[in-house]
Amino acid sequence: MDRLHVHTPDKSYDVILGEGLRHHLNDYIVSSYRKILVVSDENVADYYLEGVIDGLADGREVHEIVLPAGEASKSFRCYERLLDKCVDATLDRNSLILALGGGMVGDIAGFVAASYLRGIDYIQLPTSILAHDSSVGGKVAINHTKGKNLIGAFHHPEMVLYDTEMTATLPLKEKRSGYGEVVKHALLSDEHWFREVMERNIDDLTPEEVKSDLRRGIRLKALIVGEDEKESGIRKHLNLGHTLGHAIEAELHYGSVTHGEAVVIGTLFALRLSGLDAAYELLEDWAKRNDYPLEIVNELDEANLVDRMKLDKKTMNNRIHYVLLSDIGTPFVTEVEEDELLQQLRQFKDEVIQ
Ligand SMILES: NC(=O)c1ccc[n+]([C@@H]2O[C@H](COP(=O)([O-])OP(=O)(O)OC[C@H]3O[C@@H](n4cnc5c(N)ncnc54)[C@H](O)[C@@H]3O)[C@@H](O)[C@H]2O)c1
Ligand SMILES: [Zn+2]
Repeated sequence: MDRLHVHTPDKSYDVILGEGLRHHLNDYIVSSYRKILVVSDENVADYYLEGVIDGLADGREVHEIVLPAGEASKSFRCYERLLDKCVDATLDRNSLILALGGGMVGDIAGFVAASYLRGIDYIQLPTSILAHDSSVGGKVAINHTKGKNLIGAFHHPEMVLYDTEMTATLPLKEKRSGYGEVVKHALLSDEHWFREVMERNIDDLTPEEVKSDLRRGIRLKALIVGEDEKESGIRKHLNLGHTLGHAIEAELHYGSVTHGEAVVIGTLFALRLSGLDAAYELLEDWAKRNDYPLEIVNELDEANLVDRMKLDKKTMNNRIHYVLLSDIGTPFVTEVEEDELLQQLRQFKDEVIQ
């Protein structure tokens, strides 16, 4: 078992990683929470909901709600359903929400916790690899039909209990997605870890590899969020690969690629803009070997992608802010001219599919 600590001006909390943690939740969740609402999605619930609820049962009133799996559930409709459930179960300020799932469940359950009764406690039980990123840092949100994560809040969990064993049942595509954020964290962190990740085969990950990558990713995120809780400075570095990544997801209407797959493509492009040729080649080889869908950039029009980047909520005064690296582990934020982006994207499209 590993215990990491997140310390921000607003809140301090632990992230505990361990295999089989879900069977011992009562050891961590204080008994003063008499009422607990467990939020999950259909896929995760099939595997884990019963076990989690069984482990909680003694003396507590436990409620559950299961949403359809997928990003479409981060919606007003589901948000309202969850609030109805909180009201029906008469949750009060001493109640707890448990978010059992990936980033979708964590984001919407966290936003319900942030807004119901002006804020009640919640604990994240991440089940996906990607959720090592989303469960730490306190950003919670739902989507608007016009854009992702447009309605949200900063509301930190009381604790993150990461039973890494649960990631074993993720479909391959979702493991690939999670490793998009792992690669990003490794590049923001250090060359040694980046090279280690470049040796990973996503269809053949060992539990030790996953746990080690999750631990290092969370440690980096905790460090950054601890210094810049509300994203006025270095937290922006976490957007590495996301400017183009978000544009690709939006152009494809959030259908055919996962978030992390789009982030890998965006990160590759950021390495190109950064002029880090050796890292670019390593990442390109790795992404191809692990079946990241690099070829989809060819279906996309570069002018549309640049227009999308201008719409990104991180864009300020119509200038496209970009996170680049002067070296692995040394990110910086800069502005990239529209024409330069267009030209680089054209070349990128030509090269990346060869
Ligand atoms: N709050 C933040 O800081 C932050 C950061 C990054 C991403 N996000 C958000 O996270 C979401 C993406 O997260 P995600 O990739 O975990 O998506 P997700 O929660 O939709 O999970 C992806 C798929 O994997 C399934 N799944 C999850 N865990 C499983 C398990 N253990 N076994 C089998 N199947 C499992 C889910 O049912 C779903 O079908 C997006 O909504 C994104 O906006 C938030
Ligand atoms: Zn991301």
